[in-house]
Amino acid sequence: MSKELYANSKDDAVYSTSFGVPFPHHPYSAQRAGPTGPLLLQDTYLIDALAHFDRERIPERVVHAKGGGAHGYFEVTDDLSDITYAEPFQKAGYKCPVTVRFSTVGGERGSADSARDPRGFSIKHRTDWGNWDMVANNTPIFFIRDPIKFPHFIHTQKRDPQTNLGAGPDASHFWNYLTQNPESLHQITYMFGDRGTPDGWRHMNGYSGHTFKFISKEGKITYTQFHYITDQGVKNLSAEKAGELAGANPDSSQQDLFEAIDNGDYPSWTVYVQTMTPEQAEKFRYSILDLTKVWSHKEFPLRKVGKFVLNKNADNYFEEIEQVAFSPSNLPNGLEASADPVLQSRLFSYPDTHRHRLGPNFNQLPVNQPRTFQKGSGCPFLAGNFQRDGNMAINNQGNRPNYLSTIRPIQSVSVPDEDFKSTHNYTGVVTKKMEDESLSVQTEEAKKHDEKIWEGASYIYVSGIQDIDAEQPRALYEKVYDDAAKARFIENVVGHASSIKQPGLKEQVAKYFGQINDDLGQKVAKGLGVSY
Ligand code: HEM
Repeated sequence: MSKELYANSKDDAVYSTSFGVPFPHHPYSAQRAGPTGPLLLQDTYLIDALAHFDRERIPERVVHAKGGGAHGYFEVTDDLSDITYAEPFQKAGYKCPVTVRFSTVGGERGSADSARDPRGFSIKHRTDWGNWDMVANNTPIFFIRDPIKFPHFIHTQKRDPQTNLGAGPDASHFWNYLTQNPESLHQITYMFGDRGTPDGWRHMNGYSGHTFKFISKEGKITYTQFHYITDQGVKNLSAEKAGELAGANPDSSQQDLFEAIDNGDYPSWTVYVQTMTPEQAEKFRYSILDLTKVWSHKEFPLRKVGKFVLNKNADNYFEEIEQVAFSPSNLPNGLEASADPVLQSRLFSYPDTHRHRLGPNFNQLPVNQPRTFQKGSGCPFLAGNFQRDGNMAINNQGNRPNYLSTIRPIQSVSVPDEDFKSTHNYTGVVTKKMEDESLSVQTEEAKKHDEKIWEGASYIYVSGIQDIDAEQPRALYEKVYDDAAKARFIENVVGHASSIKQPGLKEQVAKYFGQINDDLGQKVAKGLGVSY
């Protein structure tokens, strides 16, 4: 437990009501009509305490409900000024505060940290030019490439509508979905391997998975993916140990991170990008908008950018971690979302769910508030806009006009050069040209390339997979996993799928894996006791 917690033997605070008036009685007291009579409505203190208690819970995250995190800093060690004009990447040495949250995906808020599941890996960078959120996972690929499938797949891991049972006693829904949607093979082959149960959050890598676009000062685009490589080394739990921890200590990863930071053993990750020019992207064997694929490190080597370090635990978990709201749409100018349809849909989904989970002013909560909105933060500009009021408006922008006024006009920020400005307008940037021209968030060049890439990716809406889709999971199973890892992988799959009750589905699970390797399919069938 926290050393600080035990060091503080006395709290300086005076016990008070929620309106700040010292309470002149014992905290357990309540007003009643006589020694045994009913309670009094005039007991504002009791009513205030109970009414607040009644409202303590906010909705848990619909996915990634179980997690934990900490604060620290991000530092640029190698600039990217040749490929982006994004301010945070211009100079080595640039540093900004971060809040990071790690999580599992499918489980509820009290579920086990050691579950076989991807891990969320989110970083909120509070840069001098606004917030940049990287909402990543510890797997470089994902289950889907069609966003409409996300609710379907997630529902297979939630409680059954009739029995109210989770997936444990019967994995039919989970495998029924997967066998119908075989583009999940790569992610599943990864997740049922050793990396599916990381030994705590400190010992895993993070990956953007999606392709993003850097925009240079000249308006050129460079496609990119981000990698966060753990400086603690990758360490995984055996399936047995993960199962044991799920019962004995469901908060094992939370405890491991908290105690490491509390002991001054600050975890860090080195940040890299993989980059690709549009010309390379057009020739690339796979679509760069297909989230079920990785880019070969040999062909597209990692380029170092910086590091982040976690050196401060939250003082208050709810305020600083439960209420943190990450959005893949929070991007600095000079870094843009690609046309990956899953990423595109996430641009909508996160701010939308935050409005539901935390309210319309979620960005005004201290943990989410961009430093650019804070006077005296040392940022090169003070942010302002025309959003006002709503629940819990705690930074309502003072007496700044609440419309685009010429009486006290809001300033516009400069953009790289005039030519670029004419084709590339930004959200939040007010220019004369913006009033005259239709709104565009892409350069003409970027649009052209996106269209080409998009054509190449049109097969993503075809259900089922083509053999090209089996290549990477096949390589993972055949070349990356040694014999012992292969055996563990099969054991994990068989262990999970053996609870399937739906007749005929076990055979389909074997065939699902048979798509990447026939011998694997046969072994899964044998393990499940079905014919192949
Ligand atoms: C959390 C939606 C795909 C990473 C969430 C949340 C939603 C969501 C609604 C809850 C956010 C909150 O309440 O704060 C979606 C949709 C997806 C998708 C609709 C696809 C169509 C992905 C992918 C990744 C990812 C591909 C990683 C590459 C995360 C992470 C969190 C999260 C890390 C937890 C954020 C936190 O710690 O607060 N997602 N997601 N998601 N998602 Fe996704």
